[in-house]
Amino acid sequence: MKKVMLVFGTRPEAIKMCPLVNELKQNSKFETIVCVTGQHREMLRQVLDVFDVIPDYDLDIMKDDQTLYSITTSVLEKIKPILEDEKPDIVLVHGDTSTTFATALAAFYAGIKVGHIEAGLRTYNLQSPFPEEFNRQAVSIVSEFNFAPTEQAKKNLLREGRSASSIYVTGNTAIDALQTTVTDDYNHELFEWIGDSKLIMLTAHRRENLGQPMENMFKAIKRVLEENKDVKVIYPIHKNPVVRKVANRIFNEDERVKLIEPLEVIDFHNFLKKSYLILTDSGGIQEEAPSLGKPVLVMRDTTERPEGVIAGTLKLVGTEEVSIYEEFSNLLNNEQAYVEMSKASNPYGDGTASQKISKILEEKL
Ligand code: UD1
Ligand code: UDP
Repeated sequence: MKKVMLVFGTRPEAIKMCPLVNELKQNSKFETIVCVTGQHREMLRQVLDVFDVIPDYDLDIMKDDQTLYSITTSVLEKIKPILEDEKPDIVLVHGDTSTTFATALAAFYAGIKVGHIEAGLRTYNLQSPFPEEFNRQAVSIVSEFNFAPTEQAKKNLLREGRSASSIYVTGNTAIDALQTTVTDDYNHELFEWIGDSKLIMLTAHRRENLGQPMENMFKAIKRVLEENKDVKVIYPIHKNPVVRKVANRIFNEDERVKLIEPLEVIDFHNFLKKSYLILTDSGGIQEEAPSLGKPVLVMRDTTERPEGVIAGTLKLVGTEEVSIYEEFSNLLNNEQAYVEMSKASNPYGDGTASQKISKILEEKL
């Protein structure tokens, strides 16, 4: 029996790793161990509860004012004895967070194989997203199993000299998760508040957007709201106090903006489905929205998810107030532009990525 350890620490990693945890746990060929770093606390707990995943280890590293240094060093130090004790045959990490990078580095130091879920996403700009572009490139150097969500991601890895035999195109486990959350008969008490208005779902949290870029985003949205009375915004705000401060100041008492706590993933996905359009700087939402047929204005300068842009559902609008204002206004008032962006497409697989990964590990590990 092979011992597989999955390590993750933030909300998006958990959403995309829990389907795999549950798939591996069903397979008697594996002993499956889950270690969470606790880089996120409440936002991680919400996801674990929804997917019924009980971690074997919790490094519990989160601090209110955590830095890239503190996350990286805490993970390295706290995971060392666990890796030495458990001696897994492989450590699986996901994506591009500091948890991902530090865990892959620790496994490499311990001489343990690394498998990378969602491998090969790239902007090739180390400042955007920061520090995620570095994290994912660094993980690729040590990873022996690269589970790429798309052919484009595979191409990136091949271009960087990763061997073809280490790369498997599986689709994204985000779609596995999405298939279990969205339902036709979903309802929520906030739906009454939305009424007949066009619902805009907003999220923003990226490190490189803290400060002026985030201020620009919120001011642009406020301007559009003043000019379009049939629009309401729901913003489940990230727990980061820096984000909360700007959002509270700019949207202060705006009665058509609801600032709420992060939604549980089942709620959030169903709110996306109900929305008219989405404004975000998130990575994961760029994967989910295309299959729901919801236009997304991506408030960033770069994206590692070109598939959704090519499909027409995503548009990069940068972080300047004027560009966000213009693109947002246009989508609200130009029917043709809206219809063109609303076509459902799903470049991220058929929802069986976890099954595929499990099978590959069974055969190749
Ligand atoms: C992290 C990841 C980012 C990912 C994002 C998903 C890194 C460097 N960044 O960024 O790639 O897109 O998660 O959301 O790995 N906090 C809480 N409770 C929580 C979660 C966060 O209070 O449950 C607060 C804490 O004060 C914490 C702060 O948010 O210090 C920032 O969290 P952190 O993980 O450092 O950064 P994110 O912006 O969440
Ligand atoms: N999400 C959620 N509740 C919320 C906001 C987002 O469950 O209130 C989910 C969303 O569906 C997606 C993931 O969280 O799966 C995205 O996480 P985030 O934007 O924090 O990180 P990123 O994807 O940018 O790394």
